[in-house]
Amino acid sequence: MRSIVRAEVKELIASVDEYDDVEVIKLNGDFWILLKGVYDPKEDPGVGLYPGWVPFPAGGDFLEMGCGTGIVSVAAARAGCRRVTALDLGPEAVRNARLNAHLHGFLDVVHARESDLFSAVDDDEYFDVIFWNPPYLNPSDDLATDNIHTAFYDPGYLILSRFLDSAWGHLRPGGRLLLGFGSDGDVELLRSVTKRAGIHISTLAESTREYETIQGQVSIDYWLLELTLPRAGNLPPHGI
Ligand SMILES: C[S@@+](CC[C@H](N)C(=O)[O-])C[C@H]1O[C@@H](n2cnc3c(N)ncnc32)[C@H](O)[C@@H]1O
Repeated sequence: MRSIVRAEVKELIASVDEYDDVEVIKLNGDFWILLKGVYDPKEDPGVGLYPGWVPFPAGGDFLEMGCGTGIVSVAAARAGCRRVTALDLGPEAVRNARLNAHLHGFLDVVHARESDLFSAVDDDEYFDVIFWNPPYLNPSDDLATDNIHTAFYDPGYLILSRFLDSAWGHLRPGGRLLLGFGSDGDVELLRSVTKRAGIHISTLAESTREYETIQGQVSIDYWLLELTLPRAGNLPPHGI
């Protein structure tokens, strides 16, 4: 199996000759291409959890913000979404998502585009589900700004706030807005950013992962969160 996939990957890579630094990784029992500079799913257990957690709209339209390798977008296509829009700020991530869509036979369903949040989305494009595993680390003030990588860090959650401002306008009636988040993010800041905007947060799924680090055992909670603008009668059952 591995050699067959590797041969397929080699063929794909040959068509992307500017990339000579390519990794093949295994996640959730599948092989995936990882291009240099793209967010590495091996570093974030959340990426392996979201494909099983996100309520993909079978027959509907799904948008993944910040698609990185496109693993969640391919899962959406596999779950029967009619059309998957995979957006990322980074051109390498867009190519990476296309390659993985091709590798898994969903190039006709997954449409990857370079986009700063919704900049490449038309005003009248609407989705049934919008999902983002955002860069949720809020850097401490002493972290040099040139060390801040847009795949990991969002100082003061300014990017997340911009995302929330625009996302509602691209949801169909009854559409759902979902976020991947972890306890290594700034939960208090998320609460205050959403509260300011009148957004309610509910937890759809959660899991804890333990790590051995040089500082000792670390435990991180991962959540799939649903964001709603409450109207009478549609308040979700519980918040984080
Ligand atoms: C935590 S990573 C998640 C990557 C991928 N979804 C995954 O689960 O492996 C966040 C992603 O958001 C992208 N991103 C950051 N700022 C963005 C923006 N303004 N517009 C679009 N994508 C952005 C990053 O390039 C990165 O790929």
